[in-house]
Amino acid sequence: MCGIVGYIGPKKAVPILIEGLSKLEYRGYDSAGVAIVNNGKIEIEKCKGRLSALEERLKANPIDGSLGIGHTRWATHGEPSDVNSHPHSNKDFTISVVHNGIIENYLKLKEWLISLGYEFKTETDTEVVPHLIDYFYDGDIVKATMQAVSKIEGSYALGIVCSKEPDKLIAVRKDSPLIVGKGNGENFIASDIPAVLPYTRDVYLLDNREMAVLTKDNVEIYTIEGLKVNKEVFHVTWDAASAEKGGYEHFMIKEIHEQPKAIKDTMTSRLMPGVDEIKLDDIKLTKEDLQNINKIYIVACGTAYHAGMVGKYVIERLAKVPVEVDVASEFRYRNPLINKNTLMIVISQSGETADTLAALRLGKENGARVIAVTNVVGSSVAREATDVLYTWAGPEIAVASTKAYVTQLIAMYIIALYLGRLNGNVSDEEFRLIRDEMLKLPEKAEHLLEQKETIQKFAAMHYVHKDMFYIGRGLDFAVALEGALKIKEISYIHAEAYAAGELKHGPIALIDKGVPVIALATQDELFEKMLSNIKEVVARGAHVISFAFEGNDDISKVSDAVVYLPKTLSILAPVLSVIPLQLLAYYTAVERGCDVDKPRNLAKSVTVE
Ligand code: F6R
Repeated sequence: MCGIVGYIGPKKAVPILIEGLSKLEYRGYDSAGVAIVNNGKIEIEKCKGRLSALEERLKANPIDGSLGIGHTRWATHGEPSDVNSHPHSNKDFTISVVHNGIIENYLKLKEWLISLGYEFKTETDTEVVPHLIDYFYDGDIVKATMQAVSKIEGSYALGIVCSKEPDKLIAVRKDSPLIVGKGNGENFIASDIPAVLPYTRDVYLLDNREMAVLTKDNVEIYTIEGLKVNKEVFHVTWDAASAEKGGYEHFMIKEIHEQPKAIKDTMTSRLMPGVDEIKLDDIKLTKEDLQNINKIYIVACGTAYHAGMVGKYVIERLAKVPVEVDVASEFRYRNPLINKNTLMIVISQSGETADTLAALRLGKENGARVIAVTNVVGSSVAREATDVLYTWAGPEIAVASTKAYVTQLIAMYIIALYLGRLNGNVSDEEFRLIRDEMLKLPEKAEHLLEQKETIQKFAAMHYVHKDMFYIGRGLDFAVALEGALKIKEISYIHAEAYAAGELKHGPIALIDKGVPVIALATQDELFEKMLSNIKEVVARGAHVISFAFEGNDDISKVSDAVVYLPKTLSILAPVLSVIPLQLLAYYTAVERGCDVDKPRNLAKSVTVE
């Protein structure tokens, strides 16, 4: 998730681009850059680091010119570095491009372009775009862009300038956001509305497969096939602060709503319809390597640890290799049995958590192979691990992790299927069943988000309580732990998660009249047992909200409220069932007037032991 901006008009482009990028830094902040068309040439300044680093460089080397594009990056392909920063250009620096999204077929395109003599300087997927446009360019940048994008698979929002046509700024989008700001004698493009709000409140919201051609006085919109589109101007009435959160009140609720896309992006190019294998460019583990592995440790902290609990279950189930899951701060001090036959999987959104990093180092010192699952390209765990599997959630701003967690779950399924295919424990039939259901998860998550009113009502009734209980069996227990953590950290309600079968061994003594109990019942083979556990707490006066798949209507007879999840395989249920639990934590915290995005005593990244 990167941020892009563009300007064409009579003013100096650089200050406008920098101002716009500053409003988009929440979309990414590992590097930034601009390309300005100046006196028939394109001049570029770009560097690794926050936007302030770019500003310093531009102060030292100012660039004139009133047509330009800018970018703030959140790396996906290629680590954060000066050379991988956008804009990217063709060989002669006559065409420059900024991109947000993932180009799925870039390797194939890159090989083809190399065979034609094109030279690549970066590790990015984006660099294929200026070369492709260059290949098709015969004096018409609009036509060349249309031809180039017809070859691209994946998601993109692109901003393009060409020094040979200094009166045009081009914008194209598919599955990544892009808007056009309509000014007076000047026009703008941006990933998001806040970037243009200081200059205009009139915008065009580009739809998928649309392209805008901007001059300083005019905006024309076409489909990428070249058909003219008549688009209504959207007049923005929000203030700048809420526009940054996409109109949501908090980053957390925005990020909860970004989950369908985050799930889809994390599966992109790894799990594909009709393809009977998992494609993992960054994991080089061979069949022989796997044969020598007799134990897997999953090590992480907090929410990432909860994702690891799901990982243990699914890897043991699908790949049939024994897995232990450990909290990183404990792992280091219990002398774990690690050797060259150990595979470690460390999970960390930030990639900088001190305990997780120390566990990784301990693993490597003792000969283990380490796979890092992280959301930050080039982070410490990514650099130090043997292999990396990136979750493509985009930057997570709210302290409470939501979209990073669901993408960590997807990473766990991907690793489990990968290992299971490698050692022959996942048959073609089982693989296809799980793959096809996984590919439907984004749509189902979207559908689930539409039911948020039920949760909001439950939160409005129960936000005054001091204690809450979360119960579930099997995978539902792992999700219950995550649900309880969410409510603790942002609403400061004491919450406990229990394996439902354990209740009668002690915790049931805490259940009293009106105590809210959140019951997860998504595991088909454990459903009847969960009904009995729910009845046990209802008999003691609990107020129960249950989560079950559509069609399991019996649960409504024993619950005060039910949230029905779109049906999927029990093994995939965590990806869906966690969403209403995140919403419950969110709405409860809002009712209690808590600082949702910055809960007390917590930091986004814990870089101390
Ligand atoms: C909870 C939360 C934390 C993190 C934990 C690990 O919402 O965000 O529990 O999951 O601090 O952080 P990372 O994943 O960055 O290692």
